[in-house]
Amino acid sequence: MKVVAACAVFLLLAAPAAAPEELRGRELIVKSRCLACHDIPGFAGMAFKAHSLDNAGEKLRATWLRAWLPDPRSHAGMRMGDLRLNAADRRSIEAFLLSQRSRPVTSAAVNWEGADTRAGGKLFERLQCASCHSADTMLDAGRLRRDWVFALLKDPRQVQPDTPMLNYALPELEVRDLTAYVLEEFRSPSASTEPERRLQSDARSVAMGRAVFERRGCDGCHRTTATPVGQVKIGPSLVGLSARHLGAAPARDFVIRKLLSPGAPGKPSRMPTFEFSNAEAMDVARVLLGR
Ligand code: HEC
Ligand code: HEC
Ligand code: HEC
Repeated sequence: MKVVAACAVFLLLAAPAAAPEELRGRELIVKSRCLACHDIPGFAGMAFKAHSLDNAGEKLRATWLRAWLPDPRSHAGMRMGDLRLNAADRRSIEAFLLSQRSRPVTSAAVNWEGADTRAGGKLFERLQCASCHSADTMLDAGRLRRDWVFALLKDPRQVQPDTPMLNYALPELEVRDLTAYVLEEFRSPSASTEPERRLQSDARSVAMGRAVFERRGCDGCHRTTATPVGQVKIGPSLVGLSARHLGAAPARDFVIRKLLSPGAPGKPSRMPTFEFSNAEAMDVARVLLGR
């Protein structure tokens, strides 16, 4: 019996089944948004845009941003690559992002003390929010500012014009209860929910942050008030990669190494990392090299 099973595994491994690896590689390329920075053969005409960050200072909590930037993959469910920013670049990027407040929100007039999370929970059920947001780590109270969530649920497009969220046109008190419920229900255990003092970023750091934002190709995916999106692809075209001189090592090894650890000592790289396994890197390399 054991022998039969072993033979079956051997046959599976030996079969010339190129298709599944190819599909996995293509899916990883799309999911990782490689196309924001590179032209890639077989993906011509595809583009990718992520959230606009022009209101990031109203949306995101500063404490979350500070903890997340050094390790973007640490937040479960988020798939942005790690650009390995150094501490100084992170500080200025923080200042720049927190200065992005194109659509100010406030819930100062709201009586939060009186919020009824149980009533909010019932609304969440009745409005079937869970059909799209069950166990949604993006709704983490440690990540989102309460004012912003309140404003979003009141009128999504006022706050984030590109959001696919529906406008439920609820009365303010229901919006309040729903907001309180969402922020309690989806809070990660480690999240700080201490109220934050809003710091005014100084103009110098903001300007430095904007420069880093462009230099590191953040604007390949995100728009801000100061930068349009997708004007330049900061990575080289990957068309004809297999024919290019890629050093002494075989092309496949070069590409796999580039995907797993893009930089070399003394040669910093602007290419993000995506925590690919070896097998995933091999699948991606297969697609890029067309074999
Ligand atoms: C933020 C932009 C960015 C993203 C996203 C990105 N890259 Fe890159 N990539 C670069 C840059 C810039 C280089 C040039 C060399 C360097 O800085 O390391 C590069 C270099 C490369 C190279 C070496 C090409 C050569 O000719 O030397 C390969 C292969 C590559 N990237 C593949 C990928 C793949 C596959 C993905 C998605 C999984 C991806 N890149 C995502 C920016 C990016
Ligand atoms: C038809 C699917 C759908 C339904 C139903 C829905 N949402 Fe959403 N919601 C989305 C999508 C899609 C986003 C945008 C996520 C993104 O931009 O990454 C979103 C975004 C949000 C956000 C902001 C998250 C962020 O990080 O940008 C909150 C808060 C939210 N929804 C709460 C709710 C609540 C509360 C309900 C019920 C009243 C609800 N949603 C119903 C699809 C839905
Ligand atoms: C290749 C595309 C790409 C590049 C380049 C990129 N991002 Fe992102 N970013 C994303 C995606 C996709 C998301 C959505 C969340 C996720 O799934 O990770 C995101 C989310 C974010 C968020 C959270 C926004 C929100 O509203 O929830 C911030 C902040 C952010 N990125 C900052 C940056 C900064 C700073 C840089 C440059 C250092 C950068 N990004 C470069 C793709 C990118």
